[in-house]
Amino acid sequence: MLEPDLKTLKNQAEADISAAKDIKELEAVFRRHQKEINLLFKRFSKLPESQRGEWGRAVNLLKRFLETTVSRKKEFLRKVESRIATSDFFDPDKPGKMPEIGHLHPLTQTKREIISIFASMGFDVALGPEIEDEWHNFDALNIPKDHPARDAWNTIWLKPPAFAKASAGKQNPRLLLRTHTSPVQARYLMAHKPPVRIIAPGKVFRYEATDASHEAQFYQLEGLMVDKNVSAANFKAIIGEFLKRFFDKNLKFRLRPDFFPFTEPSFDVAMTCLACSGKGCPVCKRTGWLEVAGAGLVHPNVFTACGLDPKIWKGWAFGFGWDRLTMMKYKINDIRIFNSGDLRFLEQF
Ligand code: PHE
Repeated sequence: MLEPDLKTLKNQAEADISAAKDIKELEAVFRRHQKEINLLFKRFSKLPESQRGEWGRAVNLLKRFLETTVSRKKEFLRKVESRIATSDFFDPDKPGKMPEIGHLHPLTQTKREIISIFASMGFDVALGPEIEDEWHNFDALNIPKDHPARDAWNTIWLKPPAFAKASAGKQNPRLLLRTHTSPVQARYLMAHKPPVRIIAPGKVFRYEATDASHEAQFYQLEGLMVDKNVSAANFKAIIGEFLKRFFDKNLKFRLRPDFFPFTEPSFDVAMTCLACSGKGCPVCKRTGWLEVAGAGLVHPNVFTACGLDPKIWKGWAFGFGWDRLTMMKYKINDIRIFNSGDLRFLEQF
């Protein structure tokens, strides 16, 4: 009947020692158990002679167990406490810090959405270089040198690279940062036989002062459809469908006459301002309408420049401000925030 009694005491001591969180607690545990062991020693005299030897050995073992276990734990706690003080303490029981998981930039998210909407209407994605030459950015688009229309695009010209000088004699194109995504139209038409249905999302650059609605680097979404029997009515239908699906509501939009050298006729596309639901606010300059795109029917000179017969082919093109569309969708009131790298903004998407 003695054995289990001592065993319970030993288990209890072990559990108490391991639960002690600091040296003070551990010392209290030690004193409590030491007292109990002392009581056990007192029972010694009441035992019959024959059991005394065995009892004494067992209680001594328990005593030694208590002392060594407590001193081992004390050693450990001392280390822990000194490490906490020097702050290189690693507590394996504390929950870890979750690594930050990145996600797509809001403009990338809307780009993917736009691509999938147009893909469902049979449009491919075409891309062009951000460093463009003068011919594709202007001449092919019916904007010859010295034409005043060039002033509309505040161009960032690039210094000619060394290789251009080295091959002097050949006519070297002047290079620039593309001012719009329209040169992708020319590149695509020269490389593909119509019918053509493409969109071209991309970065564009202008030498401009920045403010809440202007950036020197911003984003456009070009669209181009060319076939034998294409009209402004196709354009209206496709743009209407796109806006409805992108904004997930039946929006009002309108086309008004405008001018671009590479389209004739040309128009601008304006949609109901979503910041005020068309009532008029500072974002839409109190008109209720927001211009979101330039567009028009492809000018015959563009077809000719790209080697296509304008008597056979007809087409329309548009250029949306893709960052403006994104601003409308998420009610963002400053275009500069897209490239700010501000996590408080980015984490909302
Ligand atoms: N490229 C024009 C711009 O940047 C927009 C546009 C594209 C207009 C296609 C008509 C057709 O202003």
